[in-house]
Amino acid sequence: MMRMILVGPPGAGKGTQAARLVERYGFVHLSTGDMLRAATKAGTELGKRAHEFMKDGKLVPDELVIAMTIERIGQDDCKAGFMLDGFPRTLPQAEALDAALDAAGTKLDAVVLIEVPDYKIVGRITGRRSDPVTGKIYHLEFDPPPPGVADRVVLRADDNEEACKQRLKKYHSETAPVIPYYGAKGILRRVDGDTTPDGVARGIAAILGA
Ligand code: AP5
Repeated sequence: MMRMILVGPPGAGKGTQAARLVERYGFVHLSTGDMLRAATKAGTELGKRAHEFMKDGKLVPDELVIAMTIERIGQDDCKAGFMLDGFPRTLPQAEALDAALDAAGTKLDAVVLIEVPDYKIVGRITGRRSDPVTGKIYHLEFDPPPPGVADRVVLRADDNEEACKQRLKKYHSETAPVIPYYGAKGILRRVDGDTTPDGVARGIAAILGA
């Protein structure tokens, strides 16, 4: 088991690859986007506040996301390791994570950056559909949902072109600085995300080893 992070722009394929990594390595997958959407669906105070930012493609304030994530990685199922997807997204989040791991006497093993050029992002996001029953992610063009599933797939509230552009802007201004932060620690690994999902999975497997 290990403690790792998947980082990359919106639509890079973090969720797609996370599902494969869970299957292959049995990682505990923690997606802050999924956690926040679940809170919104459940109608909690955190969910209501988060939704106001998420629907427009803005980042949810650090204090909300940090508290939620640090609490989650402190739970028993994360003791042996975890795979974070969508966190950290700002330098203060990266520093808060390090401080929490430090206090627990542990540290990160790897940060995998999935690189996809900006011009590919909007098409990936606006074509994405997910199955509300299984949670599986599809793409209308690249990975179409099969018959029987196609009529129930849904579009995420922030998967319109305008919110997507805002998310990409935030990625470059707020999240990109965490890349050199982890580079300086010697744990950053880059993988080409501009290829097939199988190709990306092979790239990540090569990084993580057997
Ligand atoms: P979050 O849910 O984390 O969204 P995101 O980072 O924008 O990433 P996505 O889920 O959109 O994309 P992905 O990389 O998982 O791609 P996917 O595999 O689905 O966050 C949403 C919002 O929550 C944020 O905007 C923010 O408001 C808030 N939030 C979350 N965490 C936060 C934090 N830490 N701090 C503050 N706010 C936070 O793939 C996309 C599509 O492409 C799919 O249709 C898929 O089938 C297709 N696809 C995948 N791989 C390939 C491939 N190789 N080739 C072709 N198509 C592919």
